[in-house]
Amino acid sequence: MDAIRITDVSPRDGLQNQPVAVSTEGKLRLIGQLAQAGVQRIEVTSFVSPRAVPQMADADELLPAVQARLPGLHASVLVPNAKGLARAQDAGAREIAVVLSATETMNRKNINMGLAQATEVCADTLQQARAAGLRTRAYVAVAFDCPFDGRTSLDTVIALAARMRAAGADEVVIADTIGSAAPGQVRERLQAVAAAVPLPSLCVHLHDTRGMAVANAWAALEAGVRRFDASVGGIGGCPFAPGAAGNLATEDLVLLAQQSGLETGIHLDGLLAAVDCAQDLLGRPLGGRSIAWLRGARRRADSSVPA
Ligand code: COA
Ligand code: ZN
Repeated sequence: MDAIRITDVSPRDGLQNQPVAVSTEGKLRLIGQLAQAGVQRIEVTSFVSPRAVPQMADADELLPAVQARLPGLHASVLVPNAKGLARAQDAGAREIAVVLSATETMNRKNINMGLAQATEVCADTLQQARAAGLRTRAYVAVAFDCPFDGRTSLDTVIALAARMRAAGADEVVIADTIGSAAPGQVRERLQAVAAAVPLPSLCVHLHDTRGMAVANAWAALEAGVRRFDASVGGIGGCPFAPGAAGNLATEDLVLLAQQSGLETGIHLDGLLAAVDCAQDLLGRPLGGRSIAWLRGARRRADSSVPA
């Protein structure tokens, strides 16, 4: 059976913009629930400035705790610069992700560097990480539209993706950071990027701002992409990209895969428990487009079990 590979980014993308501070223990609970649901890849935190993103200030404690409790998990962490890589290595990271935005202004807002400098810093970080034996991912953010600079040049996206691959990215993640893309564009852009980066190493990171994330995921599948980021409960958004709403919900993607004959290794009951955990941590109802149906299906299954 054909399979897709999902990285759940809820502890990083999902939590980085939340008004409620989540404790390290709370994050460990959420990550534990995801692992129990069968999620094998999780972006657990980011080694960024605690002044820029206070929610990620516990990265140095969180990552070793995750790796001690879940030794089989592929735990990934986001690093914005050399200092972030050094901190991640001190904490025992085995996989890192760099984040390069495809426009001038988004890089400045996000990591306080222009596009040219950000490209060099990300390439250097990837090279160093690879030399140290780490697995590597590279985000190409705002790959469709930028909240500051408008429509993003496809040629720039292709060139940056190729550069990140050449610098040592095992996986290149094309990100619709503000969730503005539509399925036709997703298919077109991913097919174009696939000419520069081998399809098996391409991943797509979608946000659901306009309710099109599931449709966009399907378009990515049609373009041959088999790696996806998603966030349980649909939580997420970049604090530096105005208008960015939640991510493609992991449960929506897993349901889509299940109904389409694609293996994920993840079970929906376990994901519902993870949504409950995230709700508990954030104090509000969460869930993707399918949440009402999923909860109803579980209630019906529970009530049909003989006492
Ligand atoms: N982790 C922790 N602290 C860091 C750091 C890192 N990765 N990189 C830099 N710093 C510290 C420096 O040590 C310095 O501290 P000091 O003032 O106590 O001496 C301070 O931050 C300023 O350093 P500088 O290199 O000038 O950084 P900056 O102010 O230009 O900020 C980033 C650059 C990348 C650190 C910051 O913009 C950032 O963390 N952005 C995060 C973006 C993000 O997470 N976006 C969402 C995900 S895409
Ligand atoms: Zn995102």
